[in-house]
Amino acid sequence: RMRIIVDADPGIDDALALYYLRAQRDTEIVAIGTVHGNVPVQQATANALRLTERLNLNVPVAMGAAKPLAQPLATAEDVHGQDGLGGYAGDEPTTTHTEQSAAEQLANMARENPKELSLLAIGPLTNVALALQIEPRLPELLDKVVVMGGALNVPGNITSHAEANFWHDPEAADLVLAAGFPHLTIVGLDVTMESHAPQEWLDTLPHDCFPKKILGFYADFYGSFLGKKGFVPHDPLAAAILLDPGLASYHEDRFAIELTGRYTRGKIVADQRFLAPESPFGRDIATERTKARYAVTADHARFLDQL
Ligand code: BDR
Ligand code: CA
Repeated sequence: RMRIIVDADPGIDDALALYYLRAQRDTEIVAIGTVHGNVPVQQATANALRLTERLNLNVPVAMGAAKPLAQPLATAEDVHGQDGLGGYAGDEPTTTHTEQSAAEQLANMARENPKELSLLAIGPLTNVALALQIEPRLPELLDKVVVMGGALNVPGNITSHAEANFWHDPEAADLVLAAGFPHLTIVGLDVTMESHAPQEWLDTLPHDCFPKKILGFYADFYGSFLGKKGFVPHDPLAAAILLDPGLASYHEDRFAIELTGRYTRGKIVADQRFLAPESPFGRDIATERTKARYAVTADHARFLDQL
C-alpha cells in the first residue's frame, strides 16, 4: 500500500491528480500541503479543502508558502481560472486547514513515519525546500519522491526555456535537486506534453461530473495554446508514474536549475557529461548533485486509459 503526501497548487490538473489517486486501489493520500503557483496559496488551500470534501477524503490540509523563496509571487489564472478551478470552485469549504504549515507537516510526518511515506509534488517546490531546512534528513526519511516540473529537451511553457513549477520558484527547485533524495523522479514537459488528452477523451466523461466541468476552462486554454482541442494532464501523469514507474522510461543524470541565466532562469539542466570525472571541464553539476531520473518517454495510451 503506497501512502502519499501530496504537495499541490490546485489548480485544475492538480485537482484531476487528486481524483486519479483517490480512485486507485492500494493507494492512500495521507496529507495535502498547498503552495502558491497557479493561484495564491489562500485560494489553493480553499480548493484543496473543497476537493477533500468532494472526494470524501478525511486528511489534514496544511497551508504552505505564500511566495517563492527569492522572487515575487506570480500566478496563472489564465490557465486555471480566477478561482483556480475553472470557475467551478463553488461554496466556501466547510472544513479548515491545520495549524502547522505545509513544510512543518511534511517534515513532521516524515519523521514520524520514516521511509514509509512517498511525496508527490505537483506545484512549485517552495514547501519542500522549507521542509529541508526544518529537517535536513528529509531525503532519507521519505520513500519515493516524484516531482512534476521541468522542460529538459523541449520548450518551456512559461518562458521559452522554463516550465511553470520550476519557474515559479527556481531556488526551491534547485535546493530539492541538490538535497540528495535517493529516489527522485522528475516528470517534466518532455513527457506530459505528449500525453495530450483530446476532445474525444473529454467527451467520454459524464456530462455533469466535476472533473468535466473544471476541465472545460483548462481545455479552452490548451485549445488556443496548442491549436487543437483537448488538454494536457501534467499532474495526473506524475501521479501515475509514482504509482507505476514502469509507465515511463528515464534519463538518469545529475540535475540543476539555472538561476542566473539571462534567458534561461528556471530551466532544468542535466550534467550530460561525457568527460571523465577527473577532467577539469564541466564538473560543477556532477560534483554537487546526486543522481535523479527524468522521464523521457511514457506509455500515453495506457495512462490516458487509466485516467
Ligand atoms: C504545471 O504547472 C501548472 O500549471 C500545472 O498545475 C502543473 O503542475 C505544468 O507546467
Ligand atoms: Ca500543479
